[in-house]
Amino acid sequence: MASSVIIAPSILSADFAHLAKEIESAEKGGADLVHLDIMDGHFVPNITIGPPVVASIRKITRLPLDAHLMIEDPARYVEDLVKAGVNWISVHVEADVHLNRTIQHIRSQGVRAGVAINPATPIGALEEVMPDVDYILVMSVNPGFGGQKFIPSALHKIRKLREKITSNNYRARLEIDGGVDAGNLREVLDAGADVIVAGSAIFKSKTSPFDAVREMKEIAARQAGRLDRV
Ligand code: DX5
Ligand code: ZN
Repeated sequence: MASSVIIAPSILSADFAHLAKEIESAEKGGADLVHLDIMDGHFVPNITIGPPVVASIRKITRLPLDAHLMIEDPARYVEDLVKAGVNWISVHVEADVHLNRTIQHIRSQGVRAGVAINPATPIGALEEVMPDVDYILVMSVNPGFGGQKFIPSALHKIRKLREKITSNNYRARLEIDGGVDAGNLREVLDAGADVIVAGSAIFKSKTSPFDAVREMKEIAARQAGRLDRV
């Protein structure tokens, strides 16, 4: 793996009435990035949070914020989200007919630009934007809800994308989102993902967000150690 693994708790599964406490617990456990799922009730059948809530979250953590936009015509919200304090923004390839322009726009705001891809969308759809993005987000569930089952074909996509990134020397990181837990993390890392989103595995764990993140960090560290020895 080119760079160290990032663990990104998705707050979608957190208790929103105690969000500060939940994020603090994950942060103390070693979380690297906070994943924020922004949904509009159109692109996906669910509604979540927008810039005002993001601005409040910005005040209670030092971690970088990763906004995953599951909204139609996402370019409309880039500036507001940057003002609210996000550091990474991904838009869906299926939701934007002017993807190249949106990616340039995100980058011009001084934040990282990512492109997200649904389970049924072939990776060929990313061909033209791959050299320009800072990260690719592979959905391993259908977007809209936390707590769904991991779709195994996402592993194949991750492997193929990792190959392309390595052989072309692209800078893009590979983020995986949906159904990831301590049980399938090794497989996901072996396939080549290096940004790991986990919602229910962290915020609905039987222990605490602190312990759940720590366990995932340990698995990632052991896997990195194993690769170093090869
Ligand atoms: C789903 C979201 C995910 C979700 C992941 O649309 O993009 O970030 O919160 O939740 P889990 O890890 O529970 O599948
Ligand atoms: Zn997400």
